[in-house]
Amino acid sequence: MSRCRVCSAAVHEFLDFGRQPLSSAFRSPGETEKEFRFRLAVGICGSCTMVQLLEEVPQGRRAHKGYPYHSSGSTVMHEHFERTARRFLSAELTAADPFFVEIGYNDGVVLDTVRDAGVRQLAFEPSGEGAGRVHCSFFDTASAQEVRTAEGPADIIYAANTLCDVADIATVLEGADILLAPDGVLVFEDPYFGEIIERTSFDQIYDEHFYYFTARSVRAMARRSGFDLVDVERLPVHGGQIRYSLARTGRRGPTAAVTELLAEEESRGLTEPETLNGFTATVATIRTELVELLRRLTREGHRVVGYGATAKSSTVLNYCGIGPDLVPLVCDSTPSKQGRLTPGTHIPVHPPQAFSDPYPDYALLFAWNHAEEVMAKEQAFREAGGRWILYVPDVHIV
Ligand code: TYD
Ligand code: ZN
Repeated sequence: MSRCRVCSAAVHEFLDFGRQPLSSAFRSPGETEKEFRFRLAVGICGSCTMVQLLEEVPQGRRAHKGYPYHSSGSTVMHEHFERTARRFLSAELTAADPFFVEIGYNDGVVLDTVRDAGVRQLAFEPSGEGAGRVHCSFFDTASAQEVRTAEGPADIIYAANTLCDVADIATVLEGADILLAPDGVLVFEDPYFGEIIERTSFDQIYDEHFYYFTARSVRAMARRSGFDLVDVERLPVHGGQIRYSLARTGRRGPTAAVTELLAEEESRGLTEPETLNGFTATVATIRTELVELLRRLTREGHRVVGYGATAKSSTVLNYCGIGPDLVPLVCDSTPSKQGRLTPGTHIPVHPPQAFSDPYPDYALLFAWNHAEEVMAKEQAFREAGGRWILYVPDVHIV
């Protein structure tokens, strides 16, 4: 039996994708070494309701030496982070000589904006990316203490797409307790489990997303570490996220948004067994329908290519057993993925130019979280008669 990584109670499994490769383990074509696999399965804690993976990938097995998140070459994400920084500058960072801390370097977008406003800033990033500007370690009690001693208390600690990946999340809250000023806030944004259920976006489930937060589970986790959930905000990015704000117990009351979201989760039965089992059944239906569609299109002589070699696509491809026979290539704008093969399913990744050379009949949109931006950019594909295949919230062609 698995134990909850937050509160140690029993975790009840509700979805098992089987043995999967790591979502970032793109291979070179010549590589023959056996790929590392782990069991990708999700469960819910019977006590604190935290949804989590049953198996954690050890740090030594990971391709990333640090926090993996990047703003994915998306203009929308770039703007999102600039807007976020400006919001902080007009709220939490208005006292005399404020101090902003980020967990994960994240292309430096937030840091740059904060720096340009003259505010002291620092990120924790163990990979060394952003060298010269970052504290080269994971965020934990020891590194938090070092920074506290050197720089004094932080007014805000911010993490985007990072905390959901930290299985040992209690150490982050302990570190925040050390580094934050008495009225400081820990703000983090990650995929929302309520949205995953709503859209059946099962591809959000992969090795680098260990936790699938809800307001209820985040509040329970916060309380165990001397914090309160004081605000929540829905974010339209990455297929539906929530930004959670935690403050020390008793320093701030929760906003109406917190009360509303907790009530909504309760009335939806978000963490009830029927909801979770219904989700699992719908995921299986999507697999059947997607594979049938791709087989039929291939049989009929249509060419289908993948768009965006996302981490999410690893779950879809491996769970559905989709390889180069059904999707001969995937286009992606990330240079380090190009010329390599997708983890487990070994589909070649090509640069974006390959998409129009010539246009395929169908494009399977793995980067569906950027659908608006991608479809606007690829209008000529539609005009040439191309169609998009989406599998979230169900398998459909647009
Ligand atoms: P991302 O949104 O970070 O999703 P995940 O966390 O599942 O990896 O990744 C988007 C991927 O899609 C990234 O590899 C870059 C690629 N991409 C394109 O190829 N073209 C585009 O226009 C955009 C926005 C992304
Ligand atoms: Zn628990």
